[in-house]
Amino acid sequence: VVLIQSYKWILILTGLLYLAGVRSFVPEQEMETRIIGGQEAWAHSWPWQVSLQLDSMPACGGAIISPLWVTSAAHCFIRHTKASLWTVLAGKHDLDNPEEPQQQVRLGSTVYNTQSKESDVALLKLEKPLEFNHFVRPIDIWMTPLPLLMKCTITGWGSTRENGPRVNRLQEVNVTILPSDDCNQYYLGRIRPSMFCAGKDEGGVDACQGDSGGPLSCFTGTRYELAGLVSWGVGCGRAKRPGVYTRVQEHAQWMSDTMGESDSGCDQTPGLAGLSLSADGVLSVVNVTESCPFFWPWQVSLQFNGRHYCSGALIHPHWVITAKHCGVRAKEDVAVLGLHDMKFLPVQTILIDKVFNPPQKAGFPPKSDLALLHLSVAARLGSEVSPVCVPEEDNSLDDTWSCITAGWGATKAKDGVDPDRLHHAGLTLVNESTCRHKWGGFITDTHICSHPAGSTSCMGDSGAPLFCQKHGTYFLFGVVTWGSWHCDSEKPAIFTSVSDYQSWINKMIIKF
Ligand SMILES: *[C@@H]1O[C@H](CO)[C@@H](O)[C@H](O)[C@H]1NC(C)=O
Ligand SMILES: *[C@@H]1O[C@H](CO)[C@@H](O)[C@H](O)[C@H]1NC(C)=O
Ligand SMILES: *[C@@H]1O[C@H](CO)[C@@H](O)[C@H](O)[C@H]1NC(C)=O
Repeated sequence: VVLIQSYKWILILTGLLYLAGVRSFVPEQEMETRIIGGQEAWAHSWPWQVSLQLDSMPACGGAIISPLWVTSAAHCFIRHTKASLWTVLAGKHDLDNPEEPQQQVRLGSTVYNTQSKESDVALLKLEKPLEFNHFVRPIDIWMTPLPLLMKCTITGWGSTRENGPRVNRLQEVNVTILPSDDCNQYYLGRIRPSMFCAGKDEGGVDACQGDSGGPLSCFTGTRYELAGLVSWGVGCGRAKRPGVYTRVQEHAQWMSDTMGESDSGCDQTPGLAGLSLSADGVLSVVNVTESCPFFWPWQVSLQFNGRHYCSGALIHPHWVITAKHCGVRAKEDVAVLGLHDMKFLPVQTILIDKVFNPPQKAGFPPKSDLALLHLSVAARLGSEVSPVCVPEEDNSLDDTWSCITAGWGATKAKDGVDPDRLHHAGLTLVNESTCRHKWGGFITDTHICSHPAGSTSCMGDSGAPLFCQKHGTYFLFGVVTWGSWHCDSEKPAIFTSVSDYQSWINKMIIKF
């Protein structure tokens, strides 16, 4: 992936836009002065800013952190905890124009409030995901210590003077992060570690009524990150009474846990795939579900020109295994690691610089449909990227193992699965005699046969790995090679047995 970066634009040549914290528009002219000491923002230039409305009345600000989630201040929800009372307006500039073409309106579905009085942060889950574009984008959370005296920007539709009316067009103002010690003197020790102050000692710049929950966005040098949420203060813009902000990073764990638990439409242990035939003769695969993000950290997407064409499995920081029939091209194709949803930027993208196939005799179907891909740089390992074990040659796969396959692409999943997101299913194995009976002499002892649902035509991915565990450790036993073209319920899916190539794999890893 090549990054072309001009100030606040980052275009990923894969055709994906990585949007978090990137402003689409930069102010090109000074506008009239509003907010406290601020000015009108260039329309849609803070695309993570939302207006939270209660009964169609703007009540608070908030920031988009993912398609389904907005964060805001907990105090906004104290008296109105019912999510369905809230409407989120994204892509807005002028609140008095109910029909801005860029706007996206969503109802709240659940409010999550922190339980402690000292943490003024809430999460609002939306009923339907937002669509990200130039006008509606998320912002990531600032996770390193906030530099003192850094200048950051607050935005909102709140009052431009104390007790004044709210404004219709989004305002912005720069504030300075102030030392908590100084702020604690102004506020008699009420500044907790979960808060920080920003403004100017002498006053004059601040958020005010109606800005609550809105973002304090800090520029990292390449993008903006969310450091604070407008929380409280005494008056607005008064000298020695700077604005107090929720320190969002203190709550990042709570936010990620809350979102994780709530979003667990994903599942960690897939059911066993089966095939079902509807009354009108449509065959579908049951028990294919979305994987939990990064739960299979060895899963690799092989891509050319930003397009996924096969899966692979990371077995070593420098090596990926896939099927030979994927036709991976050295120095052209990339291995994309730490990927869940194709719509988002992956954790790592690495050029493949060498492709190796085990020595084999010609023939059809290929007897050793396996390829070992060498990565031009070592993968950085972590919770989202980590290799799977290769089984020993004498490790035979039997019913005591439970196996899973995972991949991207359009499936015949019964309940529909987003082809852009990694999905998986458990697969029962089919023994060699049954498999030979169904497929004839094509089957050799370097093949593993599974339930027909494991075929590419049913699961959607070519080169998908088959990984199995019996005591909690997963081993890469297979790489999908062929199966029925039409997701035929009579034809087992065939995988190349990786353990049969273990000594060749080891030799290659040592040699290169
Ligand atoms: C506000 O701060 C940003 C850096 O975050 C800077 O680029 C911008 O020029 C500042 N705006 C004003 C009006 O000072
Ligand atoms: C789906 O998976 C569950 C759990 O493994 C299993 O009990 C069920 O039989 C599966 N459904 C079908 C139709 O195979
Ligand atoms: C193979 O599986 C079939 C059907 O599940 C079973 O009837 C047969 O006994 C099995 N054969 C062996 C050798 O285990």
